[in-house]
Amino acid sequence: MTNTLLILPGDGIGPEVMAEVRKIIDWMGARRGLVFEVSEDLVGGCSYDAHGTPLTDAAMAKAQSVDAVLLGAVGGPKWDDLPFEVKPERGLLRLRKEMDLYANLRPAKCFDALADFSSMKREVVAGLDIMILRELTSGIYFGEPRGIFEEGNERVGINTQRYTESEIARIARTGFELARKRDNRVCSMEKANVMESGVLWRQVVTEIHDAEYPDVELSHMYADAGAMQLSRRPKQFDVIVTDNLFGDILSDLAAMLTGSLGMLPSASLGAPMENGRPKALYEPVHGSAPDIAGQGKANPIACILSFAMALRYSFDAGAEADRLEAAVEKVLADGLRTADLTGPEGGTPVGTAEMGDAIVAALDASL
Ligand code: IPM
Ligand code: MG
Repeated sequence: MTNTLLILPGDGIGPEVMAEVRKIIDWMGARRGLVFEVSEDLVGGCSYDAHGTPLTDAAMAKAQSVDAVLLGAVGGPKWDDLPFEVKPERGLLRLRKEMDLYANLRPAKCFDALADFSSMKREVVAGLDIMILRELTSGIYFGEPRGIFEEGNERVGINTQRYTESEIARIARTGFELARKRDNRVCSMEKANVMESGVLWRQVVTEIHDAEYPDVELSHMYADAGAMQLSRRPKQFDVIVTDNLFGDILSDLAAMLTGSLGMLPSASLGAPMENGRPKALYEPVHGSAPDIAGQGKANPIACILSFAMALRYSFDAGAEADRLEAAVEKVLADGLRTADLTGPEGGTPVGTAEMGDAIVAALDASL
């Protein structure tokens, strides 16, 4: 089977971190015989500048036809004042929606070498390994009605939280399946105390659990209490399954537990395609970081680990994903630190490209 990959570096630090992933992709081809057919296109502000839209129909069609899409980041102050429909973020949201990538996996793992970088105490985060599963194609991000309307003599901004039973059921199943391969525990988070969509969420998750996954331990938490527990005792969790908006917020919180947003990968998965591989898009959790873009300061690890997730979930290459993750662990243990990771314990400051080269060297050393 050929392995097809569409690369969308995007804006800000996206192109810089993606350049380091290219080194890993080339390495996999040259040293492991894992060859990828790679194409590249624009997304976000750079696409708007070139084509007047954050994602062209041609790029959208390409994304639909490949095994996996790898995205850097979108957005930046340059495009802040654009109308909503052409903002850089719309390009990303269109990809998620049209590919129906409803399951967003955001693992938060604290590498031992970085436990002191977290804003939390070492004992709270050392060894942390949790998975936030965020519903990605529905909820308040997409519900209708939406917009800014005139009402009487003032404006009103409206967004709608809407979840169907089947949307909740499919993300719940993904959560339980993930848990079975991990520590077999799911905590579902919503606000059933104030939102009907939360009441339905809790009911459906419970029904799917009782009917299909009674072996998995299930608990429920209000999302606000969940945020509190995530910062208080994060290691109590295994898989957290939650909606689009709460997942957005809770995953940023979880990211900071690990020391830096520059470390966290994500996978967005949809239904299986004809070749059995899931529709998939992989991207770092961090944004385009316009303040440091173009300076060679960005941490490429989140994007590199996103490619590791692609190896695991799209290309059935779990052993190579393990190898890549071990290479990242090795360079961190060796003390290499990009700017986001410079803190109390010193280490060796490196730039984006040096970090990528060091990971390639660690891959070489693994053979
Ligand atoms: C994320 C981001 C996006 C989101 C933005 C860029 C649209 O914050 O992936 O977490 O809100 O989903
Ligand atoms: Mg976010």
